[in-house]
Amino acid sequence: MRETQLAASQLVLPLFVRGGRKLRRPIASMPGVFQLSPDELLLEATSAHEAGVPAVLLFGIPETKDAKASGAYAANGIVQTSVRLLKKHLPQLLVITDVCLCEYTQHGHCGIVQPAGARILNDPTLKLLARTAASHVEAGADMVAPSDMMDGRVGAIRQGLDRLGFTETPIMSYAAKFASAFYGPFREAAESAPKFGDRRTYQMDPANAQEAMREVAMDIQEGADIIMVKPALAYLDIVQRVKQEFGYPTAAYSVSAEYSMIKAAAANGWIDERALTIECLLAMRRAGADILITYAATSAARWLNER
Ligand code: PBG
Repeated sequence: MRETQLAASQLVLPLFVRGGRKLRRPIASMPGVFQLSPDELLLEATSAHEAGVPAVLLFGIPETKDAKASGAYAANGIVQTSVRLLKKHLPQLLVITDVCLCEYTQHGHCGIVQPAGARILNDPTLKLLARTAASHVEAGADMVAPSDMMDGRVGAIRQGLDRLGFTETPIMSYAAKFASAFYGPFREAAESAPKFGDRRTYQMDPANAQEAMREVAMDIQEGADIIMVKPALAYLDIVQRVKQEFGYPTAAYSVSAEYSMIKAAAANGWIDERALTIECLLAMRRAGADILITYAATSAARWLNER
């Protein structure tokens, strides 16, 4: 009788990697989540995989940041190195990389900034994003996920990949990504808080649903294979509309503060962490999400397989 199925095979675990060895640096606002050195990343990915999580989503924290986000597309950058390591030791694990510049620019914006006007320059950013995606796929990434929200980036990335012969590498587009206060803890984790202004000139207004449909249509036209809605819980109406109107494989990203809120309430003994985590994931599935991206993926997979 159950209308909606929830399984570990639908989960994706986001992971944060930085240089070093034997490093597990806790993220204060996300208990149980760490910045990991590549060796520790491999351990974390292995236990996720053993629990039944089929995919990870990688975020890198570079040694240095600059105006052109050089670390994002360096052949031996932190993400590129880590992808090679993961694919070597865990070939069955699907490795998705987040494609964005905000962790790599010293101002923390997702695009190139014109210093005078402090404006984000959309078109000059596209080349760098395409270069970043190409460098991830050259290192062995199975899928790229652009999260910058510049207009035209899916097309630029698709063209760049095709030109290099990576015609079969899929793009999971953060198509409807809202300028949300739910990203607060992530910016501590990825050290990517903008140093001035905010992201509202490129991320979406939480008041807009119709615009989200236009963003999705544009990304599909440019060649997106999977559509992501982000955040998840407060945007399930968007998830449902995207699934119904486009019928594309749809991912819901349960973002950092969704995780932190449950962790904080659980630490106070106010809620049942396990029941609430599963209930939220089930709600995303009920709304129409095929893929669930969550920091709780490993424990959720274990809980689901215990039942
Ligand atoms: C990078 C990016 C962000 C998140 C994913 N990719 C942060 C932002 O846009 O500020 C947020 C994820 C989360 O909160 O868990 N652009």
